[in-house]
Amino acid sequence: MKAIRVAQYGPVEGLSFEELASPVPGQGEVLIEVAGSGVNPVDWKVLSGAMKAFIPLQLPYTPGVEVAGRVAAVGENVSGLAVGDEVFGFINIVGGYATEVVASAERLAHRPNRLTALQASGVPAVALTAWQALHEHARIKAGQRVLIHGAAGGVGSMAVQMARMAGATVIATASAYNHDYLQALGAAQVIDYNQAPFEPVVDRVDVVLDLVGGDTQVRSWSVLKPGGVLVSPVSPPDASLAEAAGACGKHFATRSDGAQLQHIASLFESGELVIEVQVLPLSQAEDALRQSKERHIRGKLVLDASR
Ligand SMILES: NC(=O)c1ccc[n+]([C@@H]2O[C@H](COP(=O)([O-])OP(=O)(O)OC[C@H]3O[C@@H](n4cnc5c(N)ncnc54)[C@H](OP(=O)(O)O)[C@@H]3O)[C@@H](O)[C@H]2O)c1
Repeated sequence: MKAIRVAQYGPVEGLSFEELASPVPGQGEVLIEVAGSGVNPVDWKVLSGAMKAFIPLQLPYTPGVEVAGRVAAVGENVSGLAVGDEVFGFINIVGGYATEVVASAERLAHRPNRLTALQASGVPAVALTAWQALHEHARIKAGQRVLIHGAAGGVGSMAVQMARMAGATVIATASAYNHDYLQALGAAQVIDYNQAPFEPVVDRVDVVLDLVGGDTQVRSWSVLKPGGVLVSPVSPPDASLAEAAGACGKHFATRSDGAQLQHIASLFESGELVIEVQVLPLSQAEDALRQSKERHIRGKLVLDASR
């Protein structure tokens, strides 16, 4: 099998594409012949070394948190998955940029037939993040107003659809070239954050989903209703600013959850959720990471493991 390898922490350069021995599935694991691997900001954040204190890795390592592909072998004590099954999942913090991976069966779901394997490879991390942010942390309800920053990206494009499906009114921030895209996904109001501050044009909201962080997060307290919730998977909200706003701030790390992903898969199967992907060959992972780092991907960037 082949895999992208990182020999040292640092900038996005010097990655190698190497031939390695095929991994063997252990207890509760399956071997997947990978069709596609999703590219996420966490991939270049881990590569930079910024996360090494709390996610220690043995170098060299293979980046990538998610894949879609076909089950090629099944380890002991695995139920519900068989050789030949088409699956997808958030497999781990690393390991996905490869033509074969071993993954815990509990982290996988059957791929919806309506999606190609390449489309499906971009779903797990962003869809689980959006779902957990809205339903587990913000506890979104029908009739609420939700402001989503970074709405055109991977997590944002899922969150816009899921919030709209939950009966919320969605206000989104994005560059002008993404406004038609977000309206088609269900945003009621789209604000070009490059042109003017969002605060004067947003009527108070119940929930802010912050997918940008920094100053955007800090400025968001002023548009939250008292009792509202600001959820950010990017950085922990400031507790004193939350208290001053009479609101609540929540930070979380996404949990891999095969059962939750199977529910999300059913929403793709019924056509209620859609994903837009851009595809690069696995051999060009370095270029993909550079593009992701520029922070203007619409939907998801995925790597084609056959190239
Ligand atoms: N803690 C966790 O477990 C966890 C899990 C998932 C994600 N995250 C984090 O959540 C963030 C979002 O992830 P993602 O995968 O959705 O990222 P992404 O796909 O790379 O996001 C790209 C999008 O960000 C938008 N954007 C950039 N700057 C913006 C700004 N100032 N205001 C509004 N939109 C802006 C761009 O829109 P335009 O092109 O329209 O400008 C682009 O569509 C990342 O920081 C990621 O690391 C954390």
